[in-house]
Amino acid sequence: MISKHAEVICVASGKGGVGKTLFSINLAIESAMLGKKTLILDGDLGLANVHIMTGIYPEFDLMDVVSGKKTISEVIIEGPGGIHIIPGASGMFQLSNLSHVKRQNLVDRLNELDQQYDVIIIDSEAGMGHNVFKFLGMADRVVIVTTPDLTALSDAYAIIKVIFTKKTNNDVGVVVNRVRSVNEGEAIYKKISMAATKFLGFSVRDYGFIYEDALTVKESIQTRKPIAIQYPRTKVGATLKAVIHRIYGLDPRKTAEPTAILNRFSMLLENIRSKESA
Ligand SMILES: Nc1ncnc2c1ncn2[C@@H]1O[C@H](COP(=O)(O)OP(=O)(O)OP(=O)(O)O)[C@@H](O)[C@H]1O
Ligand SMILES: [Mg+2]
Repeated sequence: MISKHAEVICVASGKGGVGKTLFSINLAIESAMLGKKTLILDGDLGLANVHIMTGIYPEFDLMDVVSGKKTISEVIIEGPGGIHIIPGASGMFQLSNLSHVKRQNLVDRLNELDQQYDVIIIDSEAGMGHNVFKFLGMADRVVIVTTPDLTALSDAYAIIKVIFTKKTNNDVGVVVNRVRSVNEGEAIYKKISMAATKFLGFSVRDYGFIYEDALTVKESIQTRKPIAIQYPRTKVGATLKAVIHRIYGLDPRKTAEPTAILNRFSMLLENIRSKESA
């Protein structure tokens, strides 16, 4: 039997609240749609929320694995689109302060899942804590999420610099979330990539951008219906998909810009929906 080796993708950011969890969940679902057996690990060990965003309330979570009550396979649950989820431990402060031995033990248990999946996505916490380091160490590829916001941008560069100096990964790409135009998305990527090339001699991949779309994102979170399933044709949905396809190298010619028709359609939809919610 040929053993499988999952591609491990770690989603990280410098600043918090930039859209990692939103992106990770949709990356997981879209990966499953592409026929990949997909697992998402809620690695935000201090304040877990993958299961909240997917409307799933698990009985057991990573805390039970760390305490030895459950095996890792026993805490895996099925989520939307057929993805598998390892729920983080919500509000369990201890998990963000795991001892070195326990953290390594957790990583060893996670590594054992490698043969069962095509893709393992780790939605990590913001910044460069000890857990993030461990997760980066497991990853074949890192996706840094940022927004055009200046602090998010400089924090994104800071994390890239740490990845480079500590040599944790060499396959690193950037997704610019919450942009208002193609130009903005491209300009933000250029700023980060030029700084990384100039000061570190390190090249970061361009994974494109995701549109700001407060209405759709709010609706998706409130109704617990992931964008990739329920809102694929909105501005945020179309750009999310383009980014994910770019990550997998599926259609490099396609930019993240939805077609003019799609743009008009989503504006029409937004008008109707804002009238409805008014
Ligand atoms: N493209 C977008 N358009 C509009 N709002 C967005 C978009 N992406 C994210 N948001 C908003 O940002 C919030 C934070 O997103 P998310 O929880 O995914 O960030 P995070 O990086 O995982 O945060 P944390 O660092 O706390 O884990 C969402 O609840 C949503 O309100
Ligand atoms: Mg998060």
